[in-house]
Amino acid sequence: MAEIIDGRAIARQLDEKTRSEVDALVRDGYPAPGLTVILVGNDPASEVYVRRKIKACELVGIASTEHRLPADTSQEDLLALIDKLNNDNSVHGILCQVPLPDHIDTRRVLRSIAPEKDVDGFHPVNVGRLSTGSGGIVPCTPLGVMKLINSVIPDLTGKNVVVIGKSNIVGKPVANLLLDAEATVTVTHIYTAGLPEICRQADVIVAAAGAPELVRGHWVKDGAVLIDVGITRQETQEGKTKLVGDIKFDEVQHAAAVTPVPGGVGPMTIACLLANTVQAARTSMVGNGSSDSDYADARSRSMFIGLGPNPK
Ligand code: GUN
Repeated sequence: MAEIIDGRAIARQLDEKTRSEVDALVRDGYPAPGLTVILVGNDPASEVYVRRKIKACELVGIASTEHRLPADTSQEDLLALIDKLNNDNSVHGILCQVPLPDHIDTRRVLRSIAPEKDVDGFHPVNVGRLSTGSGGIVPCTPLGVMKLINSVIPDLTGKNVVVIGKSNIVGKPVANLLLDAEATVTVTHIYTAGLPEICRQADVIVAAAGAPELVRGHWVKDGAVLIDVGITRQETQEGKTKLVGDIKFDEVQHAAAVTPVPGGVGPMTIACLLANTVQAARTSMVGNGSSDSDYADARSRSMFIGLGPNPK
């Protein structure tokens, strides 16, 4: 039986770390990190996601603000709001939920968010930093995928990893993170010839094609680790709905470990959003947001040069 990688439990652990980082900032006299979420229109799935994000902020002590704009909001008004938030020091992270209504140029909007507040990691500056291995904010789902893989394979050096899917949001950034971790990475997609044979070589498969139950049991070698990023709502024969991933879960019990859908990658995405928000806040307030020890270093440096930790 394959081990089930419990994304909810791993997300909880990350949330505890985030919560203690928020507490440490507040103890040192800084304001709580602030995340602003913008939702344009009333797409039902987006409403659910945004509600979850806001609730998750509360649990770790991040101050969240929600801007709900009508579906006919002009691009100009949306850009004006983002400009205001970019210049508001109490806002450390800005997230504009996509999809946006058709009359709005999504790329233009995402590009208008200040890169240091872009907690989604979608801005071209952050994409460029990731692809050159030079820091920046890492997109939440790819970061969550890496943490899930590392929970079962701490060292990926020389491992064969097959990524299925080439999206800007998951496939491409995950491939970059895996390369930085010294894995041998094959990026594929639904049009890749011989995909089952390619997958059979993999020590790890990251399935992010958005194609329900694409990966079958005979695609998977014994002992592989499987990360399922797909999530599609399907109707059952009884007329109910269920969520299915990109991997045919019942056929892969010969794998070493597999993420469930739901309860695998999904909870990690939100936990990583919270972690990114705290990183952005620390970078803006303390000057260094990349890790606990860096935070301590930055604090001692700022005290050393006589600024003290309190910016007020
Ligand atoms: N829509 C679905 N997932 C996401 C996400 O991670 N970020 C944003 N901004 N919109 C989304």
